[in-house]
Amino acid sequence: MLWITGANGLLGAALTAKCKAALQSGHEVDIGDLALVRRFVKLHPGITHIVNCAAFSMVDAAEISREEAWRANAIGPENLGIVAREIGAKYTHISTDYVFPGNVARPLTESDPVGPCNYYGETKLEGEVRALALSACVIRTSWIFGNGGKNFVAKMLRMLQTEKEIRLTDDQWGRATYAPDLAGAILQMLPFSGLYQYANSGVVSRYEFGMAMREEALLLGYEVVTESMIPVSAATFPSMCKRPVYSAFDTTKIEKHLSIRPWREALREFLCAQMPVCS
Ligand SMILES: NC(=O)c1ccc[n+]([C@@H]2O[C@H](COP(=O)([O-])OP(=O)(O)OC[C@H]3O[C@@H](n4cnc5c(N)ncnc54)[C@H](OP(=O)(O)O)[C@@H]3O)[C@@H](O)[C@H]2O)c1
Repeated sequence: MLWITGANGLLGAALTAKCKAALQSGHEVDIGDLALVRRFVKLHPGITHIVNCAAFSMVDAAEISREEAWRANAIGPENLGIVAREIGAKYTHISTDYVFPGNVARPLTESDPVGPCNYYGETKLEGEVRALALSACVIRTSWIFGNGGKNFVAKMLRMLQTEKEIRLTDDQWGRATYAPDLAGAILQMLPFSGLYQYANSGVVSRYEFGMAMREEALLLGYEVVTESMIPVSAATFPSMCKRPVYSAFDTTKIEKHLSIRPWREALREFLCAQMPVCS
């Protein structure tokens, strides 16, 4: 039996959709509370795999709600690892490209030096270190998009249908990840341990992604009202903290176990899935 934590989140929901028989929990099982985590597994005997999709994922808010972010992102992954060991379950934890400083403009491997440039990244780095020490499979991912949740692509789709002009950053680069693709990869990686990185292929800025999204939406017959897309610097948008400038993964390691498709193909599927009829 697989247990998915953070099942109401963007990734958790995509994973839940792929394995309907899994046990799920939301914020009511606070992963930062070891007693609650132990109680959950006691109430649900037979758990063989735990996948941790729970996290404090609001990057700016983490600068202020430090204790809450630390509990969810550093202590939570450790608690789940402890309990997985106690019941003999395999454990998979999800981490982020924000563990990298983002100041090197080349694809980053699992062994490249880390050094987060904000508090969210610090908490996530601590979480992956603690999970790895407890024999987890840690999968770093970046820029997730999909159904529900707060994500850039869902927001962009609404904007394309309502805003005449959209401003997007063109000085930060990474790899986008379609939540259902990542969910499939997580399931394929269940038997493994160690550190891996996963994202759809192709390095892109938000501006480039937005331009492609507009093209794809038009091709699919969406009523797009946006006439101009304007590239701007990230400094245009006020933020509580720094973000990596370049944080695209090298995914060679995980591609020994599975194949990865280009982000544009995944984006097309996402756009199609939002339409009542799509050929
Ligand atoms: N989204 C991205 O672009 C992105 C990029 C790189 C890595 N990641 C990583 O991918 C994973 C999934 O992210 P996501 O985008 O799916 O996040 P999400 O949509 O914010 O979902 C996270 C879920 O965790 C729950 N949660 C928060 N604190 C918790 C706690 N202490 N105990 C139990 N549940 C708790 C939240 O519940 P409430 O909403 O009720 O608080 C939420 O439903 C995370 O590890 C994240 O760090 C995400």
